[in-house]
Amino acid sequence: MTSPRAIEPAQGKLGVLMPGLGAVASTFIAGVLHARKTGDAPLGSVSQMAHIRLGRREDNRNPRIKEFVPLAGLDDLVFGGWDPLSPNVLEAATTAGVMKDADLAAISGELEGIVAMDAVFEQKWVSRIDGVRVKSETNKWEQAEALMTDIETFRVENECDRLVMVWCASTEAFQEASDVHRSIDSFEAGLKENDTNISPSQIYAYAALMSGVPFANGAPNLTTDLPCIVELSEREGVPICGKDFKTGQTLIKTLIAPGLKSRMLGIRGWYSTNILGNRDGEVLDAPENFQTKENSKLGVLDTILQPEVYPSLYGNIDHKVRIDYYPPRGDEKEGWDNIDIFGWLGYPMQIKINLLARDSILAAPIVLDLALFMDLASRAGESGVQEWLSFYFKAPQASGPAKPEHDIFIQQTKMKNTLREWMGEIPVTHSEAG
Ligand SMILES: NC(=O)c1ccc[n+]([C@@H]2O[C@H](COP(=O)([O-])OP(=O)(O)OC[C@H]3O[C@@H](n4cnc5c(N)ncnc54)[C@H](O)[C@@H]3O)[C@@H](O)[C@H]2O)c1
Repeated sequence: MTSPRAIEPAQGKLGVLMPGLGAVASTFIAGVLHARKTGDAPLGSVSQMAHIRLGRREDNRNPRIKEFVPLAGLDDLVFGGWDPLSPNVLEAATTAGVMKDADLAAISGELEGIVAMDAVFEQKWVSRIDGVRVKSETNKWEQAEALMTDIETFRVENECDRLVMVWCASTEAFQEASDVHRSIDSFEAGLKENDTNISPSQIYAYAALMSGVPFANGAPNLTTDLPCIVELSEREGVPICGKDFKTGQTLIKTLIAPGLKSRMLGIRGWYSTNILGNRDGEVLDAPENFQTKENSKLGVLDTILQPEVYPSLYGNIDHKVRIDYYPPRGDEKEGWDNIDIFGWLGYPMQIKINLLARDSILAAPIVLDLALFMDLASRAGESGVQEWLSFYFKAPQASGPAKPEHDIFIQQTKMKNTLREWMGEIPVTHSEAG
C-alpha cells in the first residue's frame, strides 16, 4: 500500500455542461435519465460497470470502480448546454433519431426542460450549419465573458457544487496552431482583437478553465492541444483531456492492431471506409471539417505498431480512411475495413470487418465516464492534461514529451493503475508476484 491521495468527497450536485446538444449529448442525457428511472445498468460505461482488481490475485478483492473511487452518483448529475440549432434536448433527441419514441416518452418532460443556451458560433468553422440560436456578442473576449456568465448562472440556478464541461459540438474546420495560440497572453490579446484563428471551441475551453471547470474535448478540434489552453489549465489548476471520442471504427482498430502486433503479424495496408447519415456526417462532408477528423483517425496505427522498431512488419503500410455522408443511414453507421496482413514466409492474408454500429450509442457512455472521472481528477487536485484518460480518445494527448499511447489495453492498464495509486493501492503489473 502507498499513501492515498486526499480526495475531496463527491458531495452535492455535479453539473455537466455540453457545448453541442446534438445526437451524442441527447443520447447521453436520455440514457442517464433512463437508468435513473428504471435502475437498469448503464451499459458500456466503464466507471459504472467495470470491476477493478486490488492487491494480489489470491486476495480476491475486485470491487466495481464506482465503489472503489469516490465518484458522483447518477442521481447527482444536472445537465445543461449550448446549441445554435437545438432548442432543447427533447428536440435534439427527436431530430437525431437515435432512441425510439417509446424510450423517450417516459422522460420527455425532463428532456424538454433542458433548454439550450445561445451558442458562441461562427459559420466559418462549421459551414454546413446555419446557426440561429447564437449569442449577440461579436467580440471574442465578450463572447468568453458571456459564456462565463452562463456558467455561473447555471451553477447558481441548479445549486451545483461542481461543474465539468464536455465538448459534444460539431467538428470544426481544420486548422494548425498559430501565433495567437502560443501563450495565455497572446490568446487573451487575440480574443480582444477578434483574431480570426480563434475558433468557438477555444472560447468555450477558455471560459471553462477561467471558471475552474474541467474541460474534455470529444471532437478532433485542436482545442485542448493548444499551448495556451494547456498553460491555462496548469495555471488555473484545472484538468483537461482530449481528443475525439474513441468509438466505432477506431475503437475496433485499437482492439485489432495490438493483437496482430502481439503475434508479430505484419500489416501491408489498412483501408477503412464508412457511411453515415447523421448531422455529424453532414458536417464532416465538408472537406475542411473532414480533414480535422482524418488527422485524428490516421495517427492511431503508428504508435501502436511502432514501425521504427519493426520496419519489416509495419514500415510500409498504406492506411486510408474515408467517410461518406449517406443520409438514409442516419446514426446507424456502417464501416468496412480491409486489412492486408502477412505472416510466416511473407505469405499474404486478409481480414474483413463489417461494423454495423450506432455512433451515439457508443459515444454516450464515454461522455458519462469522462464527466465523472474529470470531476474526480479535479477533486484529487489534478491539473493539466489527464493522460490516464487516453483510453477514451482517438487522438489522445500526452502530458509529457513522449508520444501518446494508442493501444487500448495499455491505456486501460494506465487508467486502472492511476485509480489504484490515488487510492493508495499497489499498481497491478501482472508479474509473477502480483
Ligand atoms: N458519435 C460518435 O461516435 C463520435 C465519436 C467521436 C467524436 N464525435 C464527435 O462528437 C461531436 C458530436 O457528435 P454528434 O453526433 O452529436 O453530432 P451532432 O451534429 O448531432 O451534434 C453536434 C451539435 O453541435 C452543435 N454545434 C455546432 N457548433 C456549435 C457551437 N459553436 N456551440 C455549440 N453547439 C454547436 C450543432 O448545432 C449540433 O446540434 C462531433 O464533433 C463528432 O465528430 C462523435
